[in-house]
Amino acid sequence: MSGKNILLCVSGGIAVYKACALTSKLVQSGFNVKVIMSESAIKFVSPLTFQALSRNEVYTDTFIENNPKVIAHIDVADWADLIIVAPATANMIGKLANGIADDMISTTMLAATAPVWIAPAMNVHMYNHPAVQKNINTLFNFGYRFIEPGEGYLACGYVGKGRLEEPEAIVELIISHFGPQFLPFKGKNILITAGPTKEKIDPVRYLTNHSSGKMGYAFAEEAVKMGANVILVSGADHLPVPNGVTFIKIESADDMYNAVMKYFPDVDVVIKSAAVADYRPSQVSDKKVKKKDGNLMIEFERTKDILQELGKNKKHQFLVGFAAETHDMEQFALQKLERKNLDMVVANNVLESGAGFSGDTNIVTIFHKDHSIKKLPLLSKHETAKEILGEILTKIGDLK
Ligand code: PMT
Repeated sequence: MSGKNILLCVSGGIAVYKACALTSKLVQSGFNVKVIMSESAIKFVSPLTFQALSRNEVYTDTFIENNPKVIAHIDVADWADLIIVAPATANMIGKLANGIADDMISTTMLAATAPVWIAPAMNVHMYNHPAVQKNINTLFNFGYRFIEPGEGYLACGYVGKGRLEEPEAIVELIISHFGPQFLPFKGKNILITAGPTKEKIDPVRYLTNHSSGKMGYAFAEEAVKMGANVILVSGADHLPVPNGVTFIKIESADDMYNAVMKYFPDVDVVIKSAAVADYRPSQVSDKKVKKKDGNLMIEFERTKDILQELGKNKKHQFLVGFAAETHDMEQFALQKLERKNLDMVVANNVLESGAGFSGDTNIVTIFHKDHSIKKLPLLSKHETAKEILGEILTKIGDLK
């Protein structure tokens, strides 16, 4: 249910700056946002601003076709679940009312079948002009809906009706349009572990693994978008902390154990995507170990198996483990499912190209406790996380 697609069409008026805030708030609320800007909108704000905020390409010209496999204005029209024109200028409203298709916004709008909401913003006299009112009426009769402009101080110096509605209010309208099921994890607590652990040898050396944390952070970001309260326990060093999570930075497997155990009783779902050390040096030297001729022998001892411990203690929690394998993936994954008392195990063959450590993609197979299996193709780690969260929802009736 996450990731409804909002197409934001930005035409040129001073209120373009509010459309930036609208884009950001929509993304933070879990929507996928694509933006089309008119030529005059670009005179107020650069497309790069909207690209950075929406994390998507911004469309400005009907004849710039970056993907030869599709026709951009048809593709983006089909993609949208809802189209918002904000700010909508008198000129854009006039074009839409009269079926003119002479730029990317007006052309896309003729191809679109999704609901369209128009948020006008202009000078009060322009808004009240009979031509603009007639065009608004025509669009209303086409089935377009309007987000009424507010009254107040206008950029032109007048006080009156014509201010673009506040971005927060527009986002609330959009969320209520899609209904409460849009946030399927609302009110639920999800504990996610990410990244590697570091096991000290001495003050300058440690043992670690190749995990970047990308898989776990993708879970955290997607779960926040789906309304969850997310606790992210992470050993990753180089990723920005996702918005809206409770973040706990750890180093060793022992630190992770303590953090996870602290939150475990109060969470509904645990996703253990971290790559945790199975062994650590039995002795940690408090001084740098000086090099000598010959080999160095280090004795290792087992760390606590956090996931196994969670499996032993779980009550209401839905427990998802990962299995990073290089061979016999299915066999080892099913053994982990049983031995650690999991509800689901997500297996990846870390030798497969496009899967596993560090990259932006993964290829996983999901094994459920009820023996059903779902293989996912090569997907971005975000798409993989969304699919897995969707699978969790299908298995947890009371979270729906
Ligand atoms: O971080 P990225 O670069 O994006 O890479 C993603 C990933 C490859 C790390 C991820 O997809 C993945 O496979 N994570 C699990 C890595 C791992 O430690 O797998 P494992 O098969 O060794 O462990 C099985 C499960 O037990 C894991 O859920 C692990 O978190 C857990 N475990 C392991 C050891 C231990 N002492 N305690 C644990 O809880």
